[in-house]
Amino acid sequence: MLPFIDLKKQYELLKPEIDKAILQVAGSAHYILGPEVAKLEAALAEYVGVRECVACANGTDALTLPLLAWDVGPGEAVFCPAFTFFSTAEVVALRRAVPVFVDINPVTYNIDPASLEEKILAVRKEGKLRPRAVVPVDLFGLPYDYEAVARIADRYNLVILEDAAQGFGGVYGGKRAGSLGQAAATSFFPSKPLGCYGDGGAVFTDDSELADVIRSARVHGTGDRRYEHIRLGQNSRLDTIQAAILLAKLAVFPEELSQRQEIAARYESALLGSVPSVPAIPGGRMSAWAQYTVRVPAASRQQIVESMKASGVPTMIYYPKCLHLQPVFASLGGCPGQLPAAEQASAEVLSLPMHPWLSEEDQKLVVDALLEALERLG
Ligand SMILES: Cc1ncc(COP(=O)(O)O)c(C=O)c1O
Repeated sequence: MLPFIDLKKQYELLKPEIDKAILQVAGSAHYILGPEVAKLEAALAEYVGVRECVACANGTDALTLPLLAWDVGPGEAVFCPAFTFFSTAEVVALRRAVPVFVDINPVTYNIDPASLEEKILAVRKEGKLRPRAVVPVDLFGLPYDYEAVARIADRYNLVILEDAAQGFGGVYGGKRAGSLGQAAATSFFPSKPLGCYGDGGAVFTDDSELADVIRSARVHGTGDRRYEHIRLGQNSRLDTIQAAILLAKLAVFPEELSQRQEIAARYESALLGSVPSVPAIPGGRMSAWAQYTVRVPAASRQQIVESMKASGVPTMIYYPKCLHLQPVFASLGGCPGQLPAAEQASAEVLSLPMHPWLSEEDQKLVVDALLEALERLG
């Protein structure tokens, strides 16, 4: 079976640098907030083009920490796309605010600005919740439609928390993912475009006061003095070892990103016109290609998955169930038919192996397996 994401290959290519970085931290004994963490934060902020980066324990915490710092909570509505990973809305509900689910643009899979405005107006009309924030997601690596969403956020006085967990490296109108909002969160989960060797995440912002609150909140709300706590927070630091690994990986990230572009272009030229839908990237944007996701007929998707598996090609379904239909959110009144573009996407999407080291030969195996399955079952 081909690997879906070949993490072992990446380690082999970077082994001397990674081993050195890990051993250096092991020998230094600065395991918590060692110098590599600050070094990484500075390098990431520069790459993304923002003033501040605060590294933390994972992408979910990177979403939570700005909400905590803004004191988002009960009685407030936070608008989230219905087609994304669970964390995007989980963090809102854990703050006891209410996630309000919004439909997606069926071409980009990003939050649909028209649906967003409709939902904001509906919340205002109902008058029970105060619209407070929106969490647009750079799904599959494609930065969301920043200008359209920012116009709406400005109009209704919402803060934007960009979920750039999958978007790190992507570009929107010359700006990097991670700089498209008052704050942004990314994840260094191993399969992400920039992944570490465990869990990790980071918050980006131009707002230095916000960054200071988040720095305090990631260490139990500590103030200037040790063991003096000025707010409630969490334990959410990025391990020094992970920071050292990420510094080594960041050095080759631009090269990997361009390899991803080449692989996506090869997929497109082999599949365009032969599968019901391949990713389309709007002008002025660049995807980080966290995933290469096509659509297949919903009725035969499972058989296509099995047929490809039998040919040694793994696939993934990101995501089979929309957030408004998740059992845990049943009390919010979501039901099938409410957000048709998101629901159709969840029934049709199929993600193909995608990583910077996918050889032309292996990519041909993926393409042949998909086309053969579609011809037989599609
Ligand atoms: C869109 C999105 N948001 C948030 C997260 C959460 O990141 P983590 O797994 O690092 O907590 C992920 C990653 O899985 C994600 O894909």
